Amino acid sequence: MIFAANFKTNHTRNSTKRYLDTLSEKIAAKKSEEKVYIFPPATALGHYQGDFTLGVQNAYPAQNGAFTGEIGLEQLEEFAIRTILIGHSERRELLGESQEKVAEKFAFFKAEGFEIIYCIGEPLEVRQAGDEAVSAYLLAQFEGIDTAYEKLIVAYEPIWAIGTGRSATTEEIASTHQTLRKTVSSPLLYGGSANPDNIQEIAAIENVDGVLVGSASLDAEKFASMIFGAKC
Ligand code: 13P
Repeated sequence: MIFAANFKTNHTRNSTKRYLDTLSEKIAAKKSEEKVYIFPPATALGHYQGDFTLGVQNAYPAQNGAFTGEIGLEQLEEFAIRTILIGHSERRELLGESQEKVAEKFAFFKAEGFEIIYCIGEPLEVRQAGDEAVSAYLLAQFEGIDTAYEKLIVAYEPIWAIGTGRSATTEEIASTHQTLRKTVSSPLLYGGSANPDNIQEIAAIENVDGVLVGSASLDAEKFASMIFGAKC
């Protein structure tokens, strides 16, 4: 089972350091098959020791260059970062990342051999239109993406469940992951209001190989309790 923490625009360099110290202590007894990923803001990247993989929430598909406000491969290499989130709905929606741009990033970081957590997810109106509409929407988010890439992890994050406290239902997650399983053989994560109270139920769903957690990951003890609470 994979437990990935997406801090988004939360935590500082100092608080990330404290977080990772606490987390490392708390997860010392976790099973080795439970993999932990931490995606702090770019300002908090560093050389941390511990039983977790440090990744980046975003980067520009270039070694370096004139891309104001962005970080590229050169900045990631300084911290030995080899894992990246691509396609998060917040970047698609708030920052206007098109499928074309997302696919370009994917191709670049794939060529560099990065492990990629590729995020997909539908808005509420698509979910309300029914399962077929959801499938079509999600499959369109694989346009230009090599779904056979061996270092791919897919995260299904319904937009209406992100940060709302309203997770998708067990049935919604199960049927969506079953559909995705026909297209990808990579691990499938669920994201959207996953928390210590629902982790056991989510972890038990077929074709759920892990979770991508926002709000509930911000507190190290809470996140650690999810890792132990999943009972998988
Ligand atoms: P929440 O856990 O806050 O709903 O966020 C999920 C998410 O977007 C993780 O990438």
